[in-house]
Amino acid sequence: MDIFGSSEPAKILVVDDHPFSRVMAVDLLSVNGYHVIEHDGISDVFPVVRTVSPDLILMDIKMPNYSGFDICQQLKKNQETQPIPIILMSVADDNESRLKSQHVMADAFMSKPLESIVLLPEVELLIQRKRLYEWLEQIQQVLFLISKAIEKRYSPEGKAGIRFDKLAQGFGEYLHLNPVEISDLILASHLHDIGTVAIPDAVMMKQGKLNEEERELIKKHVLIGEEICKPMQNRRGIAQIIRHHHERWDGSGYPDGLIGESIPKLAQIFQILDIYEALTSHRPYKQAYSTQEALKIIKEEGEKGWRNVKLVQQFVAFMEEKQPT
Ligand SMILES: [Fe+2]
Repeated sequence: MDIFGSSEPAKILVVDDHPFSRVMAVDLLSVNGYHVIEHDGISDVFPVVRTVSPDLILMDIKMPNYSGFDICQQLKKNQETQPIPIILMSVADDNESRLKSQHVMADAFMSKPLESIVLLPEVELLIQRKRLYEWLEQIQQVLFLISKAIEKRYSPEGKAGIRFDKLAQGFGEYLHLNPVEISDLILASHLHDIGTVAIPDAVMMKQGKLNEEERELIKKHVLIGEEICKPMQNRRGIAQIIRHHHERWDGSGYPDGLIGESIPKLAQIFQILDIYEALTSHRPYKQAYSTQEALKIIKEEGEKGWRNVKLVQQFVAFMEEKQPT
């Protein structure tokens, strides 16, 4: 069993039309405990990839009907097959092939004949990296489900998730954010208050006014949430949003009292989206505000010094220009 809990041997698909070099690769990998599947490189390889779902593909670049470069590029462009590490191999160890393999997003390039001292450490590294990402994905899923459960507890109607996602996508594109940043905003909408899981219900669900001590306790949810989401190493933007989603532009927010642009940009953007979503949603204790009413309140928050006025203006302009349906 490896450190990520997988007891199955890793599956490696070897694609090569040359029988001798294929058998060599298969032998080399099999004796080292991998489950190897062979493909002759002549028939269509895509159905085999879908059926086998390998942990790694080792593929020749020059085959009679297909180019390993083209196959690699197509597999890397497909969301489902993109995480599979691909090692391209060729008898020609020239710079052009190495550069081309980088261009088609291959994870490594090897020259033939393969040498175990070079191949095996690379194979192991790529497989462990794939399993690490799968493990992190699973953690993200668990966190996501926990946060959904918490959200339901304190707000049985739940959030208008799809609406927020579309809004974040639209505004993120309007601001020219990259896809990972947009995805961080969307995930953060579900995770930002996950730290409330550690705050006693007596405080979280208290009907009357909170005292100073209780208010301080609730403020801790941003730090606890950040701790919970720290294992998501590949999505550090989310932990930043969680920590700073209650900061204010004038420094009167928490936990760090950051001022102006020292507040991470994604946290600034997230706040505006989150406020808009909350204002325009129906809650048991309030009606949904109209878009115009919500934008007016957000503008007022900018005038009070709580929000980045320029960002507020951009949000208003975005909503006026391309208001999502
Ligand atoms: Fe919060």
